Amino acid sequence: MNYNRLLVTAALPYANGPVHIGHLAGCYLPADIYTRYQRAQKRDIKFICGSDEHGVPITIRAMREGITPQDVVDKYNAIIRDSFAGMGISCDIYSRTSNPTHRETSQAFFKKLYDDGLFEERESEQYYDAEKDVFLADRYIIGTCPNCGNPNAYGDQCEKCGTSLSPEQLIEPRSALSNAKPVKRMTKHWYFPLNKYEDFLKEWIVEGKKDEWKANVYGQCKSWLDSGLHPRAMTRDSNWGVPVPLPDAKGKVLYVWFDAPIGYISATKELTPQWADYWCKEDTKLVHFIGKDNIVFHCIIFPAMLKAHGGYVLPDNVPANEFLNIEGEKVSTSRNWAVWVDEYIKDFPDQQDALRYVLCANAPENKDNDFTWKDFQDRVNNELSAVLGNFENRAFVLMHKLCKGRVPALHADVQNELDNALIEDIKAAKTKVETALEAYRFREALAEVIDLARKGNKYLQDNAPWTLAKTPELQVENQKRIDNCLHLCLQLNANLAILLNPFLPFTANKMCKKMKVVERMLEWENAGRIDLLKVNYPLLAPELLFRKIEDTEVEAQVQKLKDNLAKATSQKVEAPKTETQAAPVAEAKGVITYDDFAKIDLRAGTITKAEKVEKADKLLKLEVDMGTEVRTIVSGIAMHFAPEDIVGKQVTVVANLAPRKMRGIESNGMILMAQNADGKLIFVSPLETADNGSEVK
Ligand code: 2FM
Ligand code: ZN
Repeated sequence: MNYNRLLVTAALPYANGPVHIGHLAGCYLPADIYTRYQRAQKRDIKFICGSDEHGVPITIRAMREGITPQDVVDKYNAIIRDSFAGMGISCDIYSRTSNPTHRETSQAFFKKLYDDGLFEERESEQYYDAEKDVFLADRYIIGTCPNCGNPNAYGDQCEKCGTSLSPEQLIEPRSALSNAKPVKRMTKHWYFPLNKYEDFLKEWIVEGKKDEWKANVYGQCKSWLDSGLHPRAMTRDSNWGVPVPLPDAKGKVLYVWFDAPIGYISATKELTPQWADYWCKEDTKLVHFIGKDNIVFHCIIFPAMLKAHGGYVLPDNVPANEFLNIEGEKVSTSRNWAVWVDEYIKDFPDQQDALRYVLCANAPENKDNDFTWKDFQDRVNNELSAVLGNFENRAFVLMHKLCKGRVPALHADVQNELDNALIEDIKAAKTKVETALEAYRFREALAEVIDLARKGNKYLQDNAPWTLAKTPELQVENQKRIDNCLHLCLQLNANLAILLNPFLPFTANKMCKKMKVVERMLEWENAGRIDLLKVNYPLLAPELLFRKIEDTEVEAQVQKLKDNLAKATSQKVEAPKTETQAAPVAEAKGVITYDDFAKIDLRAGTITKAEKVEKADKLLKLEVDMGTEVRTIVSGIAMHFAPEDIVGKQVTVVANLAPRKMRGIESNGMILMAQNADGKLIFVSPLETADNGSEVK
């Protein structure tokens, strides 16, 4: 794509809690690295971020703590803003969706769709807390799990035994807010007809983005599109959020996932009067950095909204990362199993780049990854410090010892193969790093930089200037070789500062100070040059770039995690921190008669065998015991489950679906699954084992 300006966004974090290092690794760090690199390339780029300050969890937290939602968002907006600034996340604006510009922008957006007659108005029943006068998401209904007896199971899942639940299944359900018994109430909402944009999205994504987008992103989109899109409610009953700009909409606000992405537009408006250039001109490259739980909103729903509105560019890419686990376990904010960025900054002052390094070197780019404090220590001590820091330090020490503290000359008459090879390596590194960065392969790009430092260490070792200095009879000749070696090491060091700058800006800055060069040297076009430092230029004294991470520090952090977990689990069940009020999507399919339903023959069956289908990433070939027969069913669930994990599961089978051939295998039926808003598939299994073949009605 030919473009003249870039617009980078990073998911607006909920101002409902501090950010943890999984957030950083997921999108803020890659967005920052990408932006810093593009700035160094002198490209026209704006990096947009801000707090997502609406949504039910914020109101719930406020009620629990006896403060206002505004207090909640004010508190966490400040903490998040400081965490980002502390870690060098260099957005051009960090805005807030509670700002007036955002209210106007998102209301105008909604109104345009409304005036164009796009929304469908629908009434449906929802759970309601009559005492608190609020509608309740399933997560906010608590009761006893019918499976394991846990008295604090949620209305959508029991966290103790893992069973998926609905509020109806809970024994003695109660509102998480008031303990009142939830009742059902009719309510009206405005639905965005996502189904009408299915063809457009298929053409745009399936035909246009297959080879451009990351496999994890494309795969999730494809599976959403394959399973069919439905109208989604874009409004909610609440008094916290952007009010629906219609006369008959008292007590209703825009659904947080409708207003939040529009927050990118509002923030750009606040940043610059030229905001429309970035959002409306075709030669803008729009890139959304997000975590994988946000894929559907940024790749399907928001683009459909933009398309429906008209006049906006669509994202060129959405390089979503997977999740970062901590010490082998999934991050859980409710169990306080997380490494919080504000606490890291306090515990490790001036060690921002150590964390930036580890989070990028170990980024969950293509699969979930694990952060452990031991790995943090190993990477900082054995890679950052032992390779990069060591090279820089040796070059400085030797230059002071053997070249009077000044940049020595490069003598053409003794320039040898080793020198030429290093010069080539320096030039090649620029190309390798920029190719990887342009393709959002940040781990690879950083590994190339470290590899260049490694080559520097080897070059020093091969030349051994300290040995050359010990043979006085060859003094003149040898001094020239020493000069060449250190000249090139110092030029390499300057190159490392340029290449590292997007990843480790604090370090690059320190390196510039030690080389006494201005930060303009860090412009990308300077990479690959070996004349960055002037001959005879005096440089500062050596000083280590990185300090080692001690065992005691690592042990203290692991202990802190354990203590936090113990404290959190001894406290009572808390409402979640993420927006879980799913739209009543099921009702959006429209009413069917009993006769329609009766046509479907649903049966219980047990998966007895599962295997991958060759050359089909998404398909599993299942054998399902249906009581009187064993059926072969080909199911598109291979991206979600390993075959060995699902054998023995009982499922509901659509038994009278016409047979269909997939990859040469005849599929006789379909198994039913629930799909979460993030695209994750869930087995909806019976609480007790049913006889295989028994009818489900
Ligand atoms: O998942 C989240 O943290 C959301 N607050 C992200 C919103 S991104 C955008 F749409 F604003
Ligand atoms: Zn349970």
